[in-house]
Amino acid sequence: MLSFAVSVALGALGCALALSPVLGIQTSVAFSTSGTTLASAVQPAASSSLFIPDAASRVNVFVGTTNGGHVFPGALIPQGMVKAGMDTDSPGNHAGYDANPIFNVTGFSQLHDDGTGGAVPLSNFKLFPLASCGKGNTFEECQTSIDGRKVLRNVLDDGSPDDAGEPGYFASNLSTGIRVELTSTRRTALHRYTFPAKTEFPRIVVDITNDGQQSSTDPTMELDETTGRVKGGARFAASFGPGRYQAFACVDFKGDGYDLGAPIEFGAWLGNFPVKNTWTINQLYTSFVDELGALFTFNPKPEGVTTILARIGVSLISADQACANAEQEIPEFDFEGTRAASRAQWSELLGRIQIDPKGVDPEIVDLFYSSLYRTHLSPADYTDENPLWDSPEPYYDSFYCNWDTYRTLYPLMALHDPATFARIVRGMINIQQHEGWLPECRGATAKHYIQGGSNGDPILAEFYVKFQEQADALSVPADALYNALVADAEQESGNWDLQGRQASTWKILNYIPQDLFERNGSNSKQVSRTLEYSFDDFTISQVAKALGKTADGSKYAQRSENYQNVWNANLTFPGRSDIVGFMQPRFVNGTFNFTDPRHCSIHDPLQATCFLNAQNHDGFYEGSPITYSQYVPHDTAKLIELQGGNQKFIDRLNFIFEEGYFDSTDEPSQQIPFMYHYANRPGLSTQRSRQVIAQFFNTSTNGLPGNDDSGAMGSYVAFYLAGLYPLPATRQFLLSSPYFPEISFRNPVLNTTTTIRSINFKGNPNDGTGGQVFVKSVKIDGKPWHSNCFIEWDTFTNGSLIELQLTNEINVSCGNDKSALPPSLSTGGYN
Ligand SMILES: *[C@@H]1O[C@H](CO)[C@@H](O)[C@H](O)[C@H]1NC(C)=O
Ligand SMILES: *[C@@H]1O[C@H](CO)[C@@H](O)[C@H](O)[C@H]1NC(C)=O
Ligand SMILES: *[C@@H]1O[C@H](CO)[C@@H](O)[C@H](O)[C@H]1NC(C)=O
Ligand SMILES: *[C@@H]1O[C@H](CO)[C@@H](O)[C@H](O)[C@H]1NC(C)=O
Ligand SMILES: *[C@@H]1O[C@H](CO)[C@@H](O)[C@H](O)[C@H]1NC(C)=O
Ligand SMILES: *[C@@H]1O[C@H](CO)[C@@H](O)[C@H](O)[C@H]1NC(C)=O
Ligand SMILES: *[C@@H]1O[C@H](CO)[C@@H](O)[C@H](O)[C@H]1NC(C)=O
Ligand SMILES: *[C@@H]1O[C@H](CO)[C@@H](O)[C@H](O)[C@H]1NC(C)=O
Ligand SMILES: *[C@@H]1O[C@H](CO)[C@@H](O)[C@H](O)[C@H]1NC(C)=O
Ligand SMILES: *[C@@H]1O[C@H](CO)[C@@H](O)[C@H](O)[C@H]1NC(C)=O
Repeated sequence: MLSFAVSVALGALGCALALSPVLGIQTSVAFSTSGTTLASAVQPAASSSLFIPDAASRVNVFVGTTNGGHVFPGALIPQGMVKAGMDTDSPGNHAGYDANPIFNVTGFSQLHDDGTGGAVPLSNFKLFPLASCGKGNTFEECQTSIDGRKVLRNVLDDGSPDDAGEPGYFASNLSTGIRVELTSTRRTALHRYTFPAKTEFPRIVVDITNDGQQSSTDPTMELDETTGRVKGGARFAASFGPGRYQAFACVDFKGDGYDLGAPIEFGAWLGNFPVKNTWTINQLYTSFVDELGALFTFNPKPEGVTTILARIGVSLISADQACANAEQEIPEFDFEGTRAASRAQWSELLGRIQIDPKGVDPEIVDLFYSSLYRTHLSPADYTDENPLWDSPEPYYDSFYCNWDTYRTLYPLMALHDPATFARIVRGMINIQQHEGWLPECRGATAKHYIQGGSNGDPILAEFYVKFQEQADALSVPADALYNALVADAEQESGNWDLQGRQASTWKILNYIPQDLFERNGSNSKQVSRTLEYSFDDFTISQVAKALGKTADGSKYAQRSENYQNVWNANLTFPGRSDIVGFMQPRFVNGTFNFTDPRHCSIHDPLQATCFLNAQNHDGFYEGSPITYSQYVPHDTAKLIELQGGNQKFIDRLNFIFEEGYFDSTDEPSQQIPFMYHYANRPGLSTQRSRQVIAQFFNTSTNGLPGNDDSGAMGSYVAFYLAGLYPLPATRQFLLSSPYFPEISFRNPVLNTTTTIRSINFKGNPNDGTGGQVFVKSVKIDGKPWHSNCFIEWDTFTNGSLIELQLTNEINVSCGNDKSALPPSLSTGGYN
């Protein structure tokens, strides 16, 4: 529905790519052109062999920008700290933007998150252009507050707003006739404001305090009346936790194609009152109003249309560092150069996964790359911007939250961007070394509320289990990584709502009981935390094994079976005596409490929700007992046994889908469509997963059923379209059929390309039902492979060709013997 710009920067892109040197895989050298840091450790692919020569051109940045997706559609480089984008007055403005044009634009701010809930995060340091002010068009008449200044966008004939976006670039035409364009480097945004012809007094508001929540305290702002430079900052509230953070900006202006000179009018403002010839907010009575900043009137271009560039450096250290970042990263205010360099990074990164689009609905191709794109918005690279301690290690932030992203985002990163994955892991380890705990949920240095267990564990373990041989070369210290995991597993956290686990009780009881109130954290989510802690311990056992720590490996593998302690084998589903056994809350004394299996589902008679603000004394977080009863990713074979064998298990999965218990918006449901694999019915997984895509995910602005959760949903969709599903911290992937005749993954650290090819691809059924999409047999590098249900990480280290023979018969199986079933802990475990 929304138009999105295509390939505008291709000329410049070719240029930037040609400039970038071929770097050795293990170096961390940065290359600079126009002051822009280019991605390191990349090897440009040979473009002649690419199906999609510019993968970034297939990204629709507006997917999920209405309907609660909270997707960020603005400008950033991959994993950029700066995310420059439009802010609106939508109630769903968590990422600033809303694609519904009834909402007014309130500014263009520099940080942001993607797809979150909580209170609006990081809409800091808005700029806003004014074409005229009031009847007399005077400085004093300018409406500087959000409510005073906000305006609508222009609306196109099809009813969508006149906005455009592509990786590294965003543009909009406001109803005031001003065109706004945004691009960025890692810590600096560059805005381009084109005023209507004959604008007499082009003006720009700099807003220091409106972060999206109006939470600021301790604001500072000073302006320079000769250069127009503004330096400022404040303290702001975190989005999903009790903490606060401090952030700073440094704003400079430049005429595009003319000498801007000194501003012709300047002043600080408070609310709707700009005061001419004031330099700092200390000259105003700031304790009465929490909206403040600077206002300038600039010289218009003597002839022709006035375009003014604004460069905003951002820092969590100081305003001076914000200025230094800006001067270093965008010294020349080169808008097109900055945009082309950002775009080149995106094209190279996204192009590492290539798909053959032949016979595939173009929307599916766009859905794939748009989803992949969103997996690189968070966590964000705040290296050198950590105010908490000094360290040469990378510093990443915006882990929002690990509970969302551990399942699929990092396994996808392992396939195509392990150098970034390694830096994120190093940053996480560094945080653990200074704070005692791995980051769990975090934004701008503030700890946010934990949703599940210690879900940094599966992320570190995913890295180590797959890259143990490359860890040294990637500067990931194995000992420190393992110590961080053991700290989660063994040490009682001072506050398990913000970090670590309720470890003492976990170790004594081997489950989290419902009726135990302890001082160090809340008594909530007991059942879901028991399941998460079990999985976390499984991932630690995998790392222990990889490190040759056999005793620890067995110990944590045994602890990972603790999910059985909250399995009540006697409970039946209301009205369905054939569906028996559920995860249930348990008391300290060992007896079970009762929670209706429909609790928090769409059929909950009490219509409860299982969000944090629901108190959750009934045990479950963002999921019902019926979906959580499927959540034992590491030992599905045991789960099948508990649920009465293959047929009962399949019947239960069918029931979950047919009765609407599958919840596409919350992560605990994510694996469920693929679980038929473990009951030797992979065709049913293929069909279910395709039905889920058809029903819930598309490229419309409402194409996400719920929050993107920092790219968690994007990574989930990308895996489903690739015909794969990962289990973190293992060396196996569940296998289905890709939506493409061929998909390949180029891994720059392994220096391999792995291709999955469907020999007899016949397209995809639109509704996900039926079709010649079921995997009948598999060959790897020309040899028959023993399973139709999973492939090994080996295929990615080897750079294999995986060939699938497809059939339209849904009754395919994994293969003839037990080794054809995907691994489970109780049936021999994972190699
Ligand atoms: C947009 O702003 C205008 C002018 O302030 C106001 O009348 C209108 O209600 C606003 N729209 C929304 C959705 O708030
Ligand atoms: C805005 O208007 C300009 C012409 O004034 C046009 O080129 C552009 O496509 C419009 N839309 C966006 C989003 O920039
Ligand atoms: C709280 O946690 C600390 C460790 O961080 C531990 O020393 C203390 O005993 C705990 N307090 C309670 C009441 O459990
Ligand atoms: C389930 O029922 C059996 C037989 O009545 C009983 O022995 C067992 O203790 C019950 N288990 C639970 C968890 O209530
Ligand atoms: C176990 O604890 C629960 C909750 O504290 C209590 O209601 C129940 O009576 C106890 N059962 C036994 C057998 O002690
Ligand atoms: C048992 O569960 C019910 C329903 O969720 C809850 O109201 C009650 O507080 C629980 N009992 C205890 C002792 O936690
Ligand atoms: C796109 O997905 C959304 C969210 O799941 C859904 O509400 C909408 O109906 C879908 N649109 C189309 C055209 O399929
Ligand atoms: C990567 O592999 C290609 C061939 O597959 C080889 O030519 C190249 O030298 C390798 N690069 C490195 C850095 O190992
Ligand atoms: C990967 O290569 C090794 C060594 O050539 C071989 O032993 C192994 O079977 C290969 N793995 C797969 C999955 O093909
Ligand atoms: C699958 O079903 C077809 C008929 O539709 C049948 O010919 C075939 O034998 C079945 N295969 C298996 C493995 O049951």
